[in-house]
Order: sequence, then C-alpha cells, then structure tokens
Amino acid sequence: MSNLNTDQQRKFYLKTLGCQMNEHDSEVIVGILTGLGYQQTENCEHADLILYNTCSVRENPERKVYGQIGSFKMLKQQNPDLLIGICGCMPQQKEELDQILTTLPHVDLVFGTHNIHRLPELLERAQTEERVVEVWDDSKGIVEDLPIIRANKFKAFVNVIYGCNNFCSYCVVPYTRGRERSRLPKDIVAEIRQLADEGYKEVTLLGQNVNTYGADLDQKATFAELLTMINDLSGIERIRFTTSHPKDIQDDLIEAIATLPKVCEHLHLPVQTGSDRILKQMNRHYTSAYYLDLVAKIREAVPDISLTTDLIVGFPGETETDFQETLNLVEKVKFSSAFTFIYSPRPGTPAAKMPDQIPEVVKKERIYRLIELQNQISHEYMQAHVGKTEEILVEEITTKTCELSGRTRTNKQVLFSGSPDLMGQLLHVKIIEAKTWSLKGVLA
Ligand code: SAH
Ligand code: SF4
Ligand code: F3S
Repeated sequence: MSNLNTDQQRKFYLKTLGCQMNEHDSEVIVGILTGLGYQQTENCEHADLILYNTCSVRENPERKVYGQIGSFKMLKQQNPDLLIGICGCMPQQKEELDQILTTLPHVDLVFGTHNIHRLPELLERAQTEERVVEVWDDSKGIVEDLPIIRANKFKAFVNVIYGCNNFCSYCVVPYTRGRERSRLPKDIVAEIRQLADEGYKEVTLLGQNVNTYGADLDQKATFAELLTMINDLSGIERIRFTTSHPKDIQDDLIEAIATLPKVCEHLHLPVQTGSDRILKQMNRHYTSAYYLDLVAKIREAVPDISLTTDLIVGFPGETETDFQETLNLVEKVKFSSAFTFIYSPRPGTPAAKMPDQIPEVVKKERIYRLIELQNQISHEYMQAHVGKTEEILVEEITTKTCELSGRTRTNKQVLFSGSPDLMGQLLHVKIIEAKTWSLKGVLA
C-alpha cells in the first residue's frame, strides 16, 4: 500500500445509514482505514475516499443514496483521484447491486456486509482497476480481531450474533445479513474485558435477534448465560442489548434482567402490529394476546422496565379494523417510546407480492394517528420522571449548549450542566423538566 503513504495524509468521508449493526460495522471500517493511514473528514469535498454504508430496510433511504452518490460526479471531475464506494446492505441484494452498477458508473468500489475485512485489498485494487466489486452471498465463518475505532469512549457496541433466520414477510434483513451465526462466548468476553481495561463502562450487545444467541454453536449457550458471564466482568457497569424477537423471549432472560445488577431495565421488543391476522401474514409467530401476556410477565418481574417497540402501518391487506387493533395494543402496553414505520415493499420479500397493497394516503393518515397517540404516551412517561433522581452515565458533551449528556438505565437521555471532567462517570441527577425526547436535570 505504498501509494497510500504520501506526504499529505489521505482523507475519507464515511456516511452511515441504518441500524446499530451498520453503525458498528462503520466503526470497523474507521478502524481499518485509520490503520491504512487515512484520516476521517466530515466534509466530503476534502475526501480522497467517499464511502456510503447503506441500509435496505425501506425504499426512501435507498432512493436518497442514489441521489447523493449521483451528485458526487461533480466532485470526481474536480478530483480525478477521488474514490467512491458503496457498502452495507444495498449491494447485498441482486436487484440493487445491478442498479448501482448501471446507474452510478462513477462508483469505484462496491462491497457487502460479509467482506468488510477485505477492505484493505479491495481499496488497493481500486487504485488501479476500473471498478472493484466484491459481494459475498453469505459467510459461514466469523472474522475476529478486526481493528475497531469506536465513536464513544465510554459505551461500546459489541456483536454477539450476526444474521437473521426469521424471514418476517416484509423484511429484507435475512437476505442482506445471511443466516444466524453466534460469536463464541470466549471471544465476546475477551472483547468486553479489553473494553473494560480501556475504561468503557457500558456495552450494548447487538444482534437482529439476540434471544436465539448460542443455539447454532457446537457447544450450546443461551443469551441469559452470556449476560451472566458479562455481568461478572469488573469495570463494566451497564449492559444493554438489542433486538429481542417476542417469540423467543424465555423465562431465563426475564430472570436475568430482573436479577443481574448490570443489566439495564430497558427492553426493545418490536411488536409490529396489534392485529393477529396481520401478525400471521407478517410471519411473526405470535398473537397480540401472547405479546400482552409477555409484557405482563416482564413487568411483574421488572416493574420499572422501559419497553420500546417498532410498529409498521399499512402492511398489505391492513384494514381500518386491523389498524384499530394496533392503536388498542399501543394504548394498553404504554411503550415509553416507539419507532413507527410506513410499510415499504421490498423487492424479493413475500409481502411485496401480496395483493391489496395499501395506498400511500391511507398509510400516511394511519401513521399520523399512531404517532399522535404514541407521542401522548411518551410525553406522560417522560413527565413521570420529574422530581425523581436517576443514575446517569455521562457520555457526551452536547455541541450546541455544551451541556453534559447521559442516559438513565432505562435509556432516556438526560441533559445537565457540569464539568467535562465528569465524562465517563456514573452520577445521580435530579430530573427537573421533561421534554418530548429528553430530560433536563441537575447534579444531585
Ligand atoms: N431485527 C430487528 C430489526 C429489524 S429492522 C427486529 O426484528 O426487530 C427494524 C425495523 O424496521 C423492524 O422492526 C420493522 O418495524 C421495520 N421494517 C422492516 N422492514 C420494513 C419494511 N419493509 N417496511 C417498513 N418497515 C420495516
Ligand atoms: Fe427482519 Fe424479522 Fe429478522 Fe427482525 S426478526 S431482522 S424484522 S426478518
Ligand atoms: Fe438496514 Fe441492513 Fe440494518 S437493511 S436496518 S442496515 S441490517
């Protein structure tokens, strides 16, 4: 890679779209590029390499990628040495890959989610070859020990299981991320021990469905067992995880959340819809009654738990009655917050071919009603914090107001004034005001 070590340091601009999995993949990409001597820039006009780590879960963000990458043609005219790359979930789909290759001829480098570790070689080839495209279908193995430069100094993402076996009928992720593959417990524990040595206080364990962690290992393990091992590591103070499929939540996991002191009282439990008919069409393998029972059981074991969810409106065939059932469920559960999505047909998924696709106006009207209801519930949830004292991990300084920012164990953001020396500490903060998405506090 001698041509990379020129006097003037090469710069890369990295844009990350999509879920935490992609955010964490980008931390690996930053680690690799930094190791190659590149420096990160926030300004794409200063970059020698522009890389988009893409998401395929809905259509709109995909369309934007085509627009943005299209506009970089100009930059390339100004700087003929500029390399432009697309990685992440979009190239993992055949239709999308073809479209990238035909409609974006100025893209030099395309790779997928299974071959990020190949970036040094791909980049070297891209310096001389017309275009480098390498997308792997699936990867049986897991590549350990890649360099990672994390976005935060105190909280870290840690992969525990890759891929998804669930094939919810609307979802593209099983096609872009392949089948479930668990990391070995010893590798996960070693990574977290190292993080603790570096001063990290919090880990978020990542998987499309962490609840099936360990089922594919020769020496079977469960997610609850993994949590117990991590709970024993000194230095780490908080353990979070995402995502949990409701069908796979076992009693031992609920027990682990209730009893392990470092496991935080927050569970992201995507329900998607309150209609049993639509749940079936979605291939979710549970009913709304099952979900409500599960919520009751979890709340009995962990009374202060914050439950958050994902909801889709306008799935094919969704009637006003089906939608009312979603509103009813949301009303009953009282999620502390929810991600709400308009159903987006994804090529290659069964739902995209289902009859009775819902018109855009109906989808929009439904999502507005859903958001209004959830906002009201979220607001009440936030309001109930006022006057209470919460344990906060100080994570960041806000750029606008220079306040300190941290999160409660239930994952709500709290802003308060304090010295920058407090970064990385666990502190008690008294909540004095609730806003829609954050809380304001004073050091207790
Ligand atoms: N594995 C996680 C996250 C999957 S993607 C899980 O199962 O919860 C995150 C969310 O995007 C999903 O929960 C779903 O609500 C939403 N989503 C997925 N595919 C979608 C589609 N085609 N249209 C709209 N929303 C979708
Ligand atoms: Fe998609 Fe369903 Fe897998 Fe989540 S569990 S990633 S929604 S297929
Ligand atoms: Fe998007 Fe891929 Fe994540 S499709 S939601 S970035 S797994």
